[in-house]
Amino acid sequence: MSDLTAKLSLSDGREFDLPIHKASLGYDAIDVQALSKNHLFTFDPGLMSTAMCKSEITYIDGEKGILLHRGYPIHDLAMKCDYLEVAFLLLYGELPDKDDYAEFSKVVRKHTLVHEQLSRFFHGFRRDSHPMAVMCGVSGALAAFYHDVLDVSDEEHRTLTALRLLAKMPTLAAMCYKYSIGHPFMFPQNNLSYAGNFLYMMFATPCEPYVVNPVLEKAINRILILHADHEQNASTSTVRTAASSGANPFACIAAGIASLWGPAHGGANEACIKMLEEIGTVDRIPEFIARAKDKKDPFRLMGFGHRVYKNYDPRAKVMRETCHEVLQELGIKTPLLQVAMELERIALTDEYFIERNLYPNVDFYSGIILKAIGIPVSMFTVIFALGRTVGWISHWKEMYDFGTLKIVRPRQVYTGYTERELEKSSE
Ligand code: CMC
Repeated sequence: MSDLTAKLSLSDGREFDLPIHKASLGYDAIDVQALSKNHLFTFDPGLMSTAMCKSEITYIDGEKGILLHRGYPIHDLAMKCDYLEVAFLLLYGELPDKDDYAEFSKVVRKHTLVHEQLSRFFHGFRRDSHPMAVMCGVSGALAAFYHDVLDVSDEEHRTLTALRLLAKMPTLAAMCYKYSIGHPFMFPQNNLSYAGNFLYMMFATPCEPYVVNPVLEKAINRILILHADHEQNASTSTVRTAASSGANPFACIAAGIASLWGPAHGGANEACIKMLEEIGTVDRIPEFIARAKDKKDPFRLMGFGHRVYKNYDPRAKVMRETCHEVLQELGIKTPLLQVAMELERIALTDEYFIERNLYPNVDFYSGIILKAIGIPVSMFTVIFALGRTVGWISHWKEMYDFGTLKIVRPRQVYTGYTERELEKSSE
C-alpha cells in the first residue's frame, strides 16, 4: 500500500478516503472496493482505467514502448533465449539454470502426445473449418480427459496442468493444419526443440525425411517468445475471468482462444496479411491510407495501433528484423514486404497516424514471416494462441498461487425501463 490516499468528494456531501495500491513500476491504483458497499459503482467501459488484479509476470509501459517479463526486456529474451526458457520464467519467476532447463524440457517432452481418443475429435469437424474454431473445440476437449483427476487447489496438479498444456498445444495446433489439408497427423519427435518439433509436425509427412531449417526454427522460436505474454489483454483477462469461478483450466484456455480469435486482438495478423494482399501494389497505398482516415469508412489499417502501446511496439522491432532474416534465407522477394515497408513509411510520417500515436504492432510483420515459412493465413492466430498459452496458464497459476481467487462479477449502469405493468395486447 502507498502512504498516499485518495479523497473522493461527491457534490451531495458524501466523502470517501480510498487507499492506494503501490506498483513497483507503472501506475498506482486507487482501491475503490469500498464504493459498492456505499451504493456507488465506478464506470469504466473496456476497463481502460481499472486494474483487475496484482501480478508479477509482465510489465508494459505503452508510452515508452517497454515490455518486461519478470523484469527482463522482451528484446533480450527474444534474442538470447529459447521459448522453453521464457516459458519457465513466466511460470516460475526466474530463468532456469542448466539443470532446471534439462528437467523442465524433459517433462514437457514427456507430455507432447495427445490421447488417441482426442485425435478422433478432429474428424467431427469439416475439413474447411477455421483452425481457430477447431482449436477452441479441441483445447476445451482436453478438459474431458483431465477433469476428475484434477485438483486445482493442489500446487503439483497445477504445475502438471501447465506442463501438459505447454506440451500439447504444438501437437494440437499442427493437427489442426494436417486435418485441414487431409494429411495424416505426425507424432511429435521429442529429440527436436519446441519450435523444431512444431515445424516437424506441421510439414513432415510419413513418406520422406524432413530436416528442420534452423533459420525457420529460430524464427518460430522468436514468434512464440514475442507472443508469450502481454499482461491483462482481452484473452488473458478472459482466462482469468473464466478461472475466477474455479472452472477447469483447459476450458479456461479454450475461452482465451475464443477471445484471441477476434480481429481486434489475435486475429489481426490474419486480417493484416489479407489487407496487404488486397492493397497488392505500392501505388494503391494512398487509397487505403485515405480509407483508414475516413470516419465514415469502417476500414482500419490492420497491424497498426494498440490499446496500450502509444509508441513503437518493442515486439514489432524484433519481428521486423526476423522478417528480413527469414526472407533472405528463403530467397523470397515478396511484393507483400514491399507494400508493408512502404505502408509503414507513409503511416509513420502521416499527421493522422502521428497525432494518434499509431505505430505498427507485433502483427504487422509476423504474418509476412509465417506466410514465407509456408504457414497458411488461417493458421496465424493459432500460432499466436500456441505462443500465448504459457502466458494464460501463468496467469491462471498466479491467481491460485497468490490465493486471490475471487469470482469476477462486474457491475453495470442500468439504463433500461423502470418497472412497468405487463399488459398482453391479445387479451
Ligand atoms: N487505422 C486507422 N485508424 C486507427 C487505427 C487503425 N488501425 N487504430 C486506431 N485508429 C484511430 C481511431 O479511429 C481513433 O481515431 P479518432 O480519435 O479520430 O476517433 C484513434 O485512432 C484511437 O483509436 P481507438 O479505437 O480509441 O484505439 P484503441 O486503443 O481503442 O484501439 C486497436 C486499439 C488495436 C483495437 C486499434 O488500434 C485497431 O483496431 N487496430 C487495428 C487492429 C490491430 O492491428 N489489432 C492488433 C492489436 S496487437 C495484437 C494484440 O496484442 O492483441
